[in-house]
Amino acid sequence: MQYDIPSFNHLIKNRRSVFPDQFEPGKQAPAEFIQQILENATWAPNHGHTEPWHFSVFTGNGLKKLAQFQSELYKSESGDTFKEAKYLKLLRNPLLASHIISIGMKRSAERKIPEIEEIAAVACAVQNIYLSTSVYGLGGYWTTGGVTYMEKAKSFFGLEKEDKLLGFFYIGYIAIPSQAASRKPVHEKVAWIE
Ligand SMILES: Cc1cc2nc3c(=O)[nH]c(=O)nc-3n(C[C@H](O)[C@H](O)[C@H](O)COP(=O)(O)O)c2cc1C
Repeated sequence: MQYDIPSFNHLIKNRRSVFPDQFEPGKQAPAEFIQQILENATWAPNHGHTEPWHFSVFTGNGLKKLAQFQSELYKSESGDTFKEAKYLKLLRNPLLASHIISIGMKRSAERKIPEIEEIAAVACAVQNIYLSTSVYGLGGYWTTGGVTYMEKAKSFFGLEKEDKLLGFFYIGYIAIPSQAASRKPVHEKVAWIE
């Protein structure tokens, strides 16, 4: 067998979301780790070889730029729904991370593949990011909060009208590990037809 099956299964089951409050604030991961994590992302399955992912990586001063951008956009777009606590979270949370990767779906020019499949391919890439992050001993999570679904956010992340911003992947060193998680028994979600 080419792979160590028990350790692979262990990785899948023990991968956890690790949130910014659990990070060692601002401690930086080596750029080579992030480079390999991104490389692994691009090996995700994708229909028609469109490779529809588009990432921007924020680190160092880039985290401040992201924090500034997303908090100000939230302020200007939220109108009556504005909440000071949310504004401050958008301003402060990025600074806790080592790196933040914006997750974009770039629509293929030919449009032969349904949009949902290009979004699904990017989600597969994000799972590669999740697993790779765990293997490097880092924590992280995918967030779809903040400015994710604001049309005006797209251009900051290198996306155009027909593309979609799918959120952000925060990466940091783990100060406070996540609790063990659980899942429903798989048989509740599976029908076997024999
Ligand atoms: C598409 C997607 C969007 C998510 N968005 C958020 C989010 O906005 N905020 C958040 O706290 N967690 C978010 N998460 C992470 C989930 O909270 C997390 O996966 C879930 O709690 C299960 O925990 P686990 O990843 O440790 O198994 C998101 C996960 C996915 C797959």
